[in-house]
Amino acid sequence: MTETVNPDREDLQRRVDAITWFHSIDLGNGIVTRGTKSIDVLASEADALLGPVRLEGASVADIGAWNGYFSLDSRRRGAARVLAVDEYTWVHPEFRGRESIELVNTTLRADLEFKQVAIADTGPDSIGRHDVVLFLGVFYHLFDAPADLLRIAGCAKDVLVIESYHDALELTRPAMVFYPGATLANDATNWWGPNPALIRELLTMAGYERIFFRPHPDRGIVRGIYHAFRSSDALTRRAVDPSMPRSIDMSTLPANHRFVDANPVRRVIPGASFPRLRRWLRPFQRRNPR
Ligand SMILES: C[S@@+](CC[C@H](N)C(=O)[O-])C[C@H]1O[C@@H](n2cnc3c(N)ncnc32)[C@H](O)[C@@H]1O
Repeated sequence: MTETVNPDREDLQRRVDAITWFHSIDLGNGIVTRGTKSIDVLASEADALLGPVRLEGASVADIGAWNGYFSLDSRRRGAARVLAVDEYTWVHPEFRGRESIELVNTTLRADLEFKQVAIADTGPDSIGRHDVVLFLGVFYHLFDAPADLLRIAGCAKDVLVIESYHDALELTRPAMVFYPGATLANDATNWWGPNPALIRELLTMAGYERIFFRPHPDRGIVRGIYHAFRSSDALTRRAVDPSMPRSIDMSTLPANHRFVDANPVRRVIPGASFPRLRRWLRPFQRRNPR
């Protein structure tokens, strides 16, 4: 018997294969984009990043959206409007990010909106103000990171969600480490490794009153997640649970708080991320949360 060929599926697969993906996204019909970040890692990141935020009916801006996993997931979690913002990977000849996110959007009928703009020009004037702003995995790529963060912080009406690589964890004072050339992960687009005290100070300068921190769900304290709410009212309005379980309220931390990794595996092997071991450890960690 000859196999039936679905020309639409073949065409989609061909278009998917022509792109270098960062996000693994299930496009249906057995087609999953082969991203650097696996579906499992993205799902646990999305639970930690978006899970605590009430997104129903919200307008969301996803700054540095790349292939659009978090834009798409915000829509899935009920956001009324999602504006995906990016430029670097969108115009990159290998990453072809703009083409990728448009392909995801049309295939999954996600109804995303797009704004192609450099980070240096991203602010309330160019992208407007949104209930929720996502700024995930971008801070450490920016040479002028503090100034860019302060401007982008002005785009969030209620909540700014930041995810970043960390360094200078041995210092309790606000600090960030400079990586000249390609000295971090052999990637010349990485410039800075901030510590949590620095991100907290910048968010406070930007006018955020309630700031919550949690380590990255897979990488631990090597990376961190910040949920910054403009005010206690914004916290009540936008947090699924305003007590923000599983997060540390940064306003209650002493100035000399030292962030350490509560996961003994990562303490022995810095940066270690063993998915099977993690799954095995989960019941013990649940009994003994960070
Ligand atoms: C590590 S990816 C993060 C993608 C997505 N937000 C996530 O968390 O999976 C960094 C994103 O920042 C964007 N970006 C903006 N300005 C950049 C710059 N100067 N250098 C590198 N990336 C930059 C890239 O286009 C890319 O989408």
